Amino acid sequence: MARDVLSLPLRSEGDAAHTGAHVLTLSPNDVATWNHLLPEVVSGRARPSGGAERDLPDEQVGAFRFFAGTALAARSDPRAFTWLDAGAAVDGSELRASAYLSGLLHRRGHLAAPECAFTDPRAFVHFATLPAMRACRAEFVSFAVDSLPPASGSLRVLDVGCGDGGLLADLLPALLEGGRWDEVATVTLLDPSPAMISTAKTRLAAAWPDARVEGRVARLEHVASLLQGPYDLVVGSLSLHHMPAEVKRRALAALAPSIDHLLLLELDADHDSPEVGSPLLAASVHQTYGWMLAQILGPSTPDEVARESADEFVAPELVSLLTEPRGIRSEYHMRRERWLALLAEAMGPEIRPLGTRTALSTPHADLFALHVGRPG
Ligand SMILES: C[S@@+](CC[C@H](N)C(=O)[O-])C[C@H]1O[C@@H](n2cnc3c(N)ncnc32)[C@H](O)[C@@H]1O
Repeated sequence: MARDVLSLPLRSEGDAAHTGAHVLTLSPNDVATWNHLLPEVVSGRARPSGGAERDLPDEQVGAFRFFAGTALAARSDPRAFTWLDAGAAVDGSELRASAYLSGLLHRRGHLAAPECAFTDPRAFVHFATLPAMRACRAEFVSFAVDSLPPASGSLRVLDVGCGDGGLLADLLPALLEGGRWDEVATVTLLDPSPAMISTAKTRLAAAWPDARVEGRVARLEHVASLLQGPYDLVVGSLSLHHMPAEVKRRALAALAPSIDHLLLLELDADHDSPEVGSPLLAASVHQTYGWMLAQILGPSTPDEVARESADEFVAPELVSLLTEPRGIRSEYHMRRERWLALLAEAMGPEIRPLGTRTALSTPHADLFALHVGRPG
């Protein structure tokens, strides 16, 4: 078995190999405490560093201040700055959610309704090419080669939410070199962003001149039942979390008959079930988006590039998570166990879990790879 591919299904939450085990999570008691403190925050009776925070463990203070600040911002209450700035002071440079949001509020005046996050590929490409995300993608590619069985013949591949095509540009040569297929026959690129499709199509057509490369501007959930393939391989890297669980389930069920193998790369977080304004959602967003922003705004990035990437890629997602209810918002990351359960339910007994690997592990955010397919 490949290096650190876990046996499936995953064991308990406390398993040392489990991604995200070290990431801050709130117990039901913590949630009750935060909910109990919120009216104090909204009424102005509670202040950062005041008595209300005495009940919180130290490691929760930054996340609680983010929760308080975003609750006030959602009510257009200027005391949001006090809480977010106090949160930024304890978060330091590792987590930048409170600091970034405070700056965004200063610049925009309120939590503005998000524009589409992927209109211009450059904003995401900056994030995808940061050292941590390069390492994550390299691990995903190596996992794919290890986990897929050797295969001969021509590959028909579908990339769901292909973005700028960077993932397939890395993955396809590695698969062929690793003895997974002999050549690439068809590459189907699917993405709702016309600019992403255009960039990806140009890139893949240049790299694979003998293959049929086709692009479709669409959301998976709108076309899943029309995509008949067949596909030897479907990849979805950081894209399937853009739909709620029930929509993922329907789209994957519609795709299942046409595919042999599915590889996913996703963030290990629960942004699907908690409702907007809840402590669970705020605490998780504070960590994961705070971590992402810390990477994007890091000292080695030119200011202009960092600001553009944060404002055009992260801000729309962040604001959506903080202001829009389930069904409307754009982000629905799920924990790895939930993905496994959903895939089993959606794709039927012939498609089985075949491997998983932690693709990136950080103190605040983890990403994992998953492989399901028809066993040999
Ligand atoms: C975070 S980017 C990932 C791009 C690429 N897969 C990668 O890993 O570099 C997410 C992509 O998913 C696309 N997307 C968003 N919602 C989608 C949906 N419902 N169906 C298919 N793609 C979607 C976005 O337009 C965007 O290009």
